[in-house]
Amino acid sequence: MASLPKFSTILTWTLYFIPVYIFILEPLLRDSFPGLQAGYPDSTSLFDSSDAPGPGINLTDDSFISPEDGVPFTCPGSEGYQVHLLSREPLVMYIENFVSEAEANHILDKSVNKYTPSIVYDGQTERIDPSKRLSDRALLDRDDTIRCLEDRARAFQGWHPDLYIERMWAQRYNASGHYRHHYDWAGSLARGGDRFSTFMVYLEADCEGGGTNFPRLKMPAGKEWCRFLECERSGKGKEMGITFKPIKGNAVFWENLRPDGTGYPETWHAAFPVTRGKKVGLNIWSWYQPKRRNRGR
Ligand SMILES: *[C@@H]1O[C@H](CO)[C@@H](O)[C@H](O)[C@H]1NC(C)=O
Ligand SMILES: *[C@@H]1O[C@H](CO)[C@@H](O)[C@H](O)[C@H]1NC(C)=O
Repeated sequence: MASLPKFSTILTWTLYFIPVYIFILEPLLRDSFPGLQAGYPDSTSLFDSSDAPGPGINLTDDSFISPEDGVPFTCPGSEGYQVHLLSREPLVMYIENFVSEAEANHILDKSVNKYTPSIVYDGQTERIDPSKRLSDRALLDRDDTIRCLEDRARAFQGWHPDLYIERMWAQRYNASGHYRHHYDWAGSLARGGDRFSTFMVYLEADCEGGGTNFPRLKMPAGKEWCRFLECERSGKGKEMGITFKPIKGNAVFWENLRPDGTGYPETWHAAFPVTRGKKVGLNIWSWYQPKRRNRGR
């Protein structure tokens, strides 16, 4: 007669299973189904570090932040952009004509001789890793056009006093250029600041491929979105989430952090490979650092 396993045997096997789950099954599941991962990022996540912020960022360092220094500037371009709400939580908005044709061309001209290979930051070190990110980047001088964009980005976000605009970089993707899924936030608010929001602006989009993919965002219902989103390639058995088409002058804006300072897992995104031609993007990142409250009052 078959007997039931002893309680101590079940206990032993249960104890064996726990490390197997933690170290083998769970990471396997997580890597296989990143879109299903509900929790927080881990060592597989990349942080888009641009110029070595990492945790413990110095928000008074003007080689990294664009302070409001009172330097006068004039804005020739119009601000005739149109905003379309895509998601309330996290906040995602699509902005048509965020930069004018003239502004985009000016930035492209100014950046052309400044490109160096882009880097990735994996939580410990910064390095060039073409399997994760293949593009070139150029730090942009704070001329009138860039100062106008800083101003526009501040105004768009309601002139929030605790936001600091990061120095802007153009990112150039040739054919086969790409950036694997990553977050723009680092979970470092407690250590001095984190990237509150991102404007992903398309400066040049003379390309095929190169869409900006968010696997955890849902396709909005209106078919009007097919002007800006890949509708044919989304849906069951196709690409996960939504993919923005690169369109010159337009931008995707999203908030990376919840009100409590934790990052939104839904902001996990990638630059799909450019298959033909060239794409140039512009990141406008706003860092958030709450002011210290004066306890004496
Ligand atoms: C931050 O950067 C400024 C300007 O470069 C520098 O004077 C200051 O010492 C830095 N602070 C820290 C904590 O590194
Ligand atoms: C992209 O193309 C430019 C111009 O042809 C070249 O100098 C640069 O090295 C290329 N970058 C990458 C990452 O392939």
